[in-house]
Amino acid sequence: MKFGFFDDVNREYVIETPKTPFPWINYLGSNDFYSIISNTAGGYSFYKDARLRRLTRYRYNNIPLDTNGKYFYIKDGSEVWSPSWKPAQAELDSYECRHGLGYSKFKGVKNGVEASVLYFIPSSDNVEIQRVTIVNSSDSVKELTLFSFVEWCLWNALDDMTNFQRNLSTGEVEVEGSTIYHKTEYRERRNHYAFYSVNASIDSYDTDREAFMGLYNDLSNPQAVELGRCSNSEAHGWSPIASHCKNMTLKPGEKVELVFLLGYVENEQYSKFNDDGTINKAQAKALMAKYGTSEVVEAALAELKHGWEAKVGKMQLSFSDERLTRMMNIWHPYQSMITYQFSRSASFFESGIGRGIGFRDSNQDIIGFVHMDPEKARQRIIDIASTQFEDGGAYHQYQPLTKRGNNDIGGNFNDDPLWLILSTTTYIKETGDWAILDEQVPFDNDTDNCATLFEHLKRSFYHVVNNLGEHGLPLIGRADWNDCLNLNCFSNNPDDSFQTTENLDGKNAESVLIAGMFVLYGSEFAHLCGLLSKKEEATAAYEHIAKMKQAVDAHGWDGEWFLRAYDHFGSKIGSKECEEGRIFIESQGFCVMAGIGVEDGRAAKALDSVNEHLACEYGIVLQNPPYSKYYMNLGEISSYPPGYKENAGIFCHNNPWIMIAETKVGNGSRAFDYYSRITPAYIEHISDLHRTEPYVYSQMIAGKDAYRPGEAKNSWLTGTAAWNYYAISQYILGIQPDYYGIKVDPCIPSEWDGFTITREYRGVKYQIEVQNPSHVSKGVKQLIVDGSMVEGNVVPLLEKGSTHIVRAILG
Ligand code: BGC
Repeated sequence: MKFGFFDDVNREYVIETPKTPFPWINYLGSNDFYSIISNTAGGYSFYKDARLRRLTRYRYNNIPLDTNGKYFYIKDGSEVWSPSWKPAQAELDSYECRHGLGYSKFKGVKNGVEASVLYFIPSSDNVEIQRVTIVNSSDSVKELTLFSFVEWCLWNALDDMTNFQRNLSTGEVEVEGSTIYHKTEYRERRNHYAFYSVNASIDSYDTDREAFMGLYNDLSNPQAVELGRCSNSEAHGWSPIASHCKNMTLKPGEKVELVFLLGYVENEQYSKFNDDGTINKAQAKALMAKYGTSEVVEAALAELKHGWEAKVGKMQLSFSDERLTRMMNIWHPYQSMITYQFSRSASFFESGIGRGIGFRDSNQDIIGFVHMDPEKARQRIIDIASTQFEDGGAYHQYQPLTKRGNNDIGGNFNDDPLWLILSTTTYIKETGDWAILDEQVPFDNDTDNCATLFEHLKRSFYHVVNNLGEHGLPLIGRADWNDCLNLNCFSNNPDDSFQTTENLDGKNAESVLIAGMFVLYGSEFAHLCGLLSKKEEATAAYEHIAKMKQAVDAHGWDGEWFLRAYDHFGSKIGSKECEEGRIFIESQGFCVMAGIGVEDGRAAKALDSVNEHLACEYGIVLQNPPYSKYYMNLGEISSYPPGYKENAGIFCHNNPWIMIAETKVGNGSRAFDYYSRITPAYIEHISDLHRTEPYVYSQMIAGKDAYRPGEAKNSWLTGTAAWNYYAISQYILGIQPDYYGIKVDPCIPSEWDGFTITREYRGVKYQIEVQNPSHVSKGVKQLIVDGSMVEGNVVPLLEKGSTHIVRAILG
């Protein structure tokens, strides 16, 4: 069952009922100021860091779901309603929410009044624009009262919801004209405030929550709205809010348009205050002047749309199946960009206070957006590398505001360093910017202790070499990619963290996943050394890789698939000898992507085993059989009920590893089949079961052993965004940027006739038409560039600014 539809022309998903199976959200903002917004206008705003600079309050996991947001109420006689249905929740005559790229639009109609609200954040300013349009479409005069509503968060989101003994006494505001300024803690150490304005005179306002709401009302029926006016309250402590109240009389057909601004301002220390002790409002006023009219708002929206068009326009597919084209042309690039921006910090499943920017996560995110915004990718790579330790190890995460590593969940996740090789080499292949390797990058943010980025990559490589276990396989550390396979932790106390507890001196566990990663990304490093004419380093690196392959051959193959790991005691994990958890997805994906066993048939065998034991209708589960009880030597993975999360859920992030692996053995049909099992546009019709947004990936879909297979959780911020985009574009459709040109190497279902991709690469536009007259899956027989045959399957670098027609004939 569906709850809306894709509008591909406008690049929007159109939601036709407010009662979706879960709040379906969108993201606003592209630089420093951000909001998340649901299809009933729930959500919040923040500046750079959802934990440390939260502007408005949101109540996660509340009853009912999705409570608090950027709300409007319309009082029409005795009836009160909201254009986004919430918070008033009055039945609407019609409702529509359109989530587009960087904006969301609502339209509610009731009793002959049409109210639309457009929300977006212009690319150049720290301000959320809310444009409200009200039309009287009835044939009688309407006397209406409009109320706005936001509830301020006292900046530190964690403190705001825990430290009431302090924060119920600190709230402060100022009101001037139609603008409400939130200035809690500005008197002391903060030099920032927020404001909420409207470009028209108002009849009244409230800034004190209790005055507006009434002590025993809720957001659906605030006391002020029931009364039809605010009381000009001034908040002193308790919970400051901002609500404007405006009366309007509309003749039949008459329209009113108002621009509300929710903004953030930072002042210099010396210019914080006016002479009379009030806050310096100059910057806020400048923003209000700038966005004072509907025309400017329209122009800012057009600019935002052009920005997105330019980004997604870097790669466009034309193909017979619109589900694939809408993913490739709109939703893959969009989700990849958003996931880069927010890492794993703020969604409807990530509270914005728990996790910052993950070392491994953000390196992987690069592969999904580098072609759209190489400058941001470059900066992110440098920021991440700057948190790396001298021995090549890494903090697991860092805080977006300070860009410093934090120890909240420790370090020593031994896969972390290798992802830096993936991000950097992918970046250079896309941009040709070799100079990034010479950048001086600090260790642990210590600017007195720097080395080149190349040296950081080398330390990443040798971090594995210097941390090998008994079988010559990489030591896993706290965990590898699978945060929940905690082989060195042994926690039997529910008050412990699975990742940071060390009850035994657990140091011995080894990971076959990291071994596969090392062969794959270590080879990328060795290849890079070769290209840089660092012959000795390349030779040494290849020797380590050869040894690692031997270790996998000797100790990492289980007969029908690759083992997953050895635990602290040297016992096998992910082996047919195990009672539960006999086969895992990760090592099959990485070992085959690394080419291990491709020539001798083990790769194909491993992938057949995946198909037999792990694949199900809704995707490929992480392992099988699921753990039915808690195993202290395995940790968090066995803490989940069977079928959920890492315990045999469909962890979408690693499904594309298997898709790519299938392309390594030439199985295009299977690769694409796996792609379509988890890809939003292909499963839109089961939105009622799936529950999360039908236009983006979720981290997890409940697996075949779960209570409710097919039900998704943790939408939006997941490595799936980048990986699935990478898998479909570079390995299935096969358009692969390389150091000296674009490689064309598709691996598709043999029944496909072909497809065309336009791709901007290093300032050159390529129109690549892939034809499949002999109906094969793989193999480019002829490559024709501007009418001339080219040897091999790499389209060479051509002159900047030019456009070229490429024809690749499979056969
Ligand atoms: C984390 C990833 C991790 C994955 C698997 C995600 O929630 O962000 O870093 O690889 O879970 O455990």
